[in-house]
Amino acid sequence: MEQIRVSSVEDRAAVYKELLPQLESLMADEPDSIANAANLAAALKQTLYYASWVGFYFLKNGELVLGPFQGKVACTRIKVGKGVCGTAAAQRKTVIVPNVYEFPDHIFCDPDSKSEIVLPLIKNGELIGVLDLDSSEYGSFDDLDARNLELVAVMFSDSFSETYPIGNGS
Ligand code: SME
Repeated sequence: MEQIRVSSVEDRAAVYKELLPQLESLMADEPDSIANAANLAAALKQTLYYASWVGFYFLKNGELVLGPFQGKVACTRIKVGKGVCGTAAAQRKTVIVPNVYEFPDHIFCDPDSKSEIVLPLIKNGELIGVLDLDSSEYGSFDDLDARNLELVAVMFSDSFSETYPIGNGS
């Protein structure tokens, strides 16, 4: 069985440095994207102590639909352009929200959430979904998280195979 191990939890740069190659090997022999998304959500939730919710939304028929996640029950569908997830999807850019109460369009899925980061998942120039992390503390996510989680998003998107009817027109 695969194990994820990091020697420090406080030093975020060190955590990501140890974590990224492990995530890569976690996905290396598995072609099923849902299995990989499920394990990535678990690995990130397990190692980033400040993340209270980690999960995927996949674009299906023009809407973001909940995929594998770790954390409390969440909204199943988000329109592109709505909320933090829909904004990251529409802009195809990482969105960091230090205080969700100050984000006008924030969708309250998890009542514990105080800050959030959402990264777009792009394969061959097409949006396939988003990776969303929430925290029960304000200001939990910064540029270091963005840079490293963007690498995770690219790693996942590159390996993504359309085994499932994911995408705009399917
Ligand atoms: N807060 C998100 C919704 C998803 S949950 O946080 C899991 C948003 O505003 O898009």
